Amino acid sequence: MNDFAQRVAAIQHHGIIRASDASALARELDLDLPRLMTMLLPLAAQFAKPPISNFYVGAVSRGLSGNLYYGTNLEFSGQALSFTVHAEQSSVTNAWSNGEEGIDLIAVTAAPCGYCRQFLNELVTADRLVIAMPSETRPLRDLLPSAFGPRDLGVAGGLMQLDDHGLTIDESDALGTEALRAANRSYAPYSKSYAGVAIRTTGGEIVSGAYAENAAFNPSLSPLQAALSQLNLRSRTFDEIAETVLVHADSLHDSATRTVLGAITGTRLRTVRARG
Ligand code: THU
Ligand code: ZN
Repeated sequence: MNDFAQRVAAIQHHGIIRASDASALARELDLDLPRLMTMLLPLAAQFAKPPISNFYVGAVSRGLSGNLYYGTNLEFSGQALSFTVHAEQSSVTNAWSNGEEGIDLIAVTAAPCGYCRQFLNELVTADRLVIAMPSETRPLRDLLPSAFGPRDLGVAGGLMQLDDHGLTIDESDALGTEALRAANRSYAPYSKSYAGVAIRTTGGEIVSGAYAENAAFNPSLSPLQAALSQLNLRSRTFDEIAETVLVHADSLHDSATRTVLGAITGTRLRTVRARG
């Protein structure tokens, strides 16, 4: 590990760098924050799991709190390519899972693909989001002209906006409670199929993911994809999955969750229908 990687290893935890640590490091190295974020990209990309493409993508988002959030791509061998999680989606998911209510800057190892530009356009902060790419830094607005988005479907808010759908379940164990929490903050203004997934590892850690829809529908991120991305950023492998819970408002996510989970682990999936 070089000096920089060593310094970062001391302040990075589960793919998060606190605002105060990030600004202290930037000051120490005499860098501005966007430049520091760009230097973090190869470290974020080390988390990538791309068995199909062997293409490692790193992303770092700055949440509105100033904290930085890693993201990286995840591919699933033997599964439809559409299950792939892009680094930008992973980074947004990481920020959102950790309580952020928007991001204003995202740095990426490669210019974001059209699908990611569309995914990012769903953010409540899309109008002020700036994208730092290897060769230039530009607002999302410039990268996605004549954009289609939530407003075209009459949706006023956006992804990462704080929400609580008021769903309840009878189960009160830690895993069910965490999946419910994710379902309650999930973003599904089009289908209303609110859903969250929580995973317990063999080591007893719990991670969760909330469903995130997109106005163009296809770039939506399933709750299982979100949870697996969070698992990966903790350096946990799919072999360490002990139990998974899906809390959902209706059965929309049932079969896709079963299919993807069945491809990566033989462990059990518990599904819980929430009342809302
Ligand atoms: N990829 C990203 O993570 N972001 C992009 O915007 C470009 C593509 C990933 C997806 C897939 O794992 C691999 O790169 C090849 O497309
Ligand atoms: Zn992409």
